[in-house]
Amino acid sequence: MIHTRGLTRSFRVKGETVEAVRGLDLDIEAGSVVAFLGPNGAGKSTTLRMLTTLLPPTSGTAVVAGHDVLTDPSGVRNRIGCLGQGNSAGSNFRASDELIAQGRAYGLSRAKARARAERLLTALELDGLAKRTVGTLSGGQRRRLDIAMALVHEPELLFLDEPTTGLDPHSRAHIWEHVLRLHKEFGATIVFTTHYLEEADLRARRVMVVDHGRVIADDPPEKLKADLAGDRITLGTADRADTERAAELARALPTVHEVTAEDTEVRVRTLHGDTQLPALLRNLEAVGVRVRTARLSRPTLDDVFLSLTGRTLRESADAPTTTRGGA
Ligand SMILES: Nc1ncnc2c1ncn2[C@@H]1O[C@H](COP(=O)(O)OP(=O)(O)O)[C@@H](O)[C@H]1O
Ligand SMILES: [Mg+2]
Repeated sequence: MIHTRGLTRSFRVKGETVEAVRGLDLDIEAGSVVAFLGPNGAGKSTTLRMLTTLLPPTSGTAVVAGHDVLTDPSGVRNRIGCLGQGNSAGSNFRASDELIAQGRAYGLSRAKARARAERLLTALELDGLAKRTVGTLSGGQRRRLDIAMALVHEPELLFLDEPTTGLDPHSRAHIWEHVLRLHKEFGATIVFTTHYLEEADLRARRVMVVDHGRVIADDPPEKLKADLAGDRITLGTADRADTERAAELARALPTVHEVTAEDTEVRVRTLHGDTQLPALLRNLEAVGVRVRTARLSRPTLDDVFLSLTGRTLRESADAPTTTRGGA
């Protein structure tokens, strides 16, 4: 559904070059749900804007839904839907009329546009609001209408740039229920960007971690967490001597990545923490090491980002290292 090679975009800002996207090679299959996860300024929006033909690449190629973004942009646009970052200007038109007009703009017959609008309004639980003007809808309702607008022409591929940013947690969950239902019902491929870790983790089946214009990891979230961060076991011991011995035994476990020991605490990063923890406790008990507390925690995608970049995503979101601003 999406193939890019060396996709690159730079901007000139005050005489300096900002390399927003640096040589992306993407292959995204039809029917997938893919997240671009990265801090502000990572290049997520720029990537989406190139894939949706809104911005020409500086170099490289991109074929989207079978059409080249440079040589056949209208071929691409007819097959994709997109929800940009911060759409949804208010208007005085009724929600249903906006949708029908959008369908007509894509060349649907009036009857077809109307049928499609009705189906989408129902799917997005907006049918009660069809006669309301767009300007009177709440933030979450308007975002759902934007999604319906992006889907009117039955695109095979839907791009969502930070679809839930600025919404409260309840509306965010609601939007996702709808998007994923649409994915099931219409079989659309979904590509979205987010800086919410939980969102990438829960909603995407494939997560591309983006930093400084590059994809630095690309896998299902479960695999990223298991391979890059690992589970964490934290043991509280009775004294320093026990800590030393516990750390030694932990290091002997076959799947352990890293062990750190401090005072009466031993921290272990390992694969399969759920089975390693009881094994470790049995070994410790057998040699008389006194363990007071034991805790298993599963890693988050923030741990993945930390292990990849040495920074947390939250820190990076607060203080982007590249030029601020952009789309
Ligand atoms: N139109 C533009 N002009 C100049 N710089 C831009 C423009 N759009 C984006 N950038 C810069 O490119 C980098 C990536 O931005 P963007 O793709 O918006 O990141 P993200 O969506 O991941 O937050 C940032 O440094 C941003 O300031
Ligand atoms: Mg963005």
